[in-house]
Amino acid sequence: MSSVSPIIIAVDGPAGAGKSSVCRGTARLLGWHYLDTGAMYRAMTWAVLHAGIDPADAAAVAAFAPTPVIASGTDPDAPTIVVDGTDVSAAIREPDVTTAVSAVSAVPKVRELLVARQREAARAALQSGTGIVVEGRDITTVVLPNAQVKIFLTADPQIRAQRRAKEEAGSAPVAGDAVRATQEALQRRDQLDSTRAASPLTQSKDAAELDTSHLTLDEVIEEVIARARAASR
Ligand code: DC
Repeated sequence: MSSVSPIIIAVDGPAGAGKSSVCRGTARLLGWHYLDTGAMYRAMTWAVLHAGIDPADAAAVAAFAPTPVIASGTDPDAPTIVVDGTDVSAAIREPDVTTAVSAVSAVPKVRELLVARQREAARAALQSGTGIVVEGRDITTVVLPNAQVKIFLTADPQIRAQRRAKEEAGSAPVAGDAVRATQEALQRRDQLDSTRAASPLTQSKDAAELDTSHLTLDEVIEEVIARARAASR
């Protein structure tokens, strides 16, 4: 993989399109850094809830936002996320955080603070001679619009729900009801994330759309790496 010179790969898309698996896998194969910006918004949401602040109170969230120290590890094999010294990697995937994260991430002050950290992580990777794969909702449009590779990852809503429900069930069988409930929850979050005023999820004109509905994870990663190789020539 040494033929790909260090660049930025920016990946946006709706919940459940496969961004995390694709971005982690790509970074791992290339030996690059990986940044999950959704985990940063989830960590801020965890901190808001932990402090007893109502996530729907935008003014209170904005006033609190500079307080927590959020540290994101960028190793694709162990992408840690720590708030004020507490590892919250598991806690940020709990339903209370998932339900509140769209409201917290719609607060402009939260975005301003986290976007600065995201740009800093990209700069640090390139300065150390390493590329970085960054996933989120506004990476191709707002955070890193000059990324050399920009991808908008999509998949059929039902397939996204099936994948997410399977992830959540672990080794247990997935009930049809669970898929329906997951699809509704994903739809609700996509709707909130796509219609907020501050940096909504939108597909930038120069981002290549990659529909993962009928592709395996390896096929998607191969496609992303092919684009990175072409862009780094
Ligand atoms: O990728 P995820 O589902 O873990 O992201 C959680 C939430 O964070 C998502 O519903 C919207 C928000 N988010 C955002 O607003 N901007 C980003 N760059 C990444 C995530």
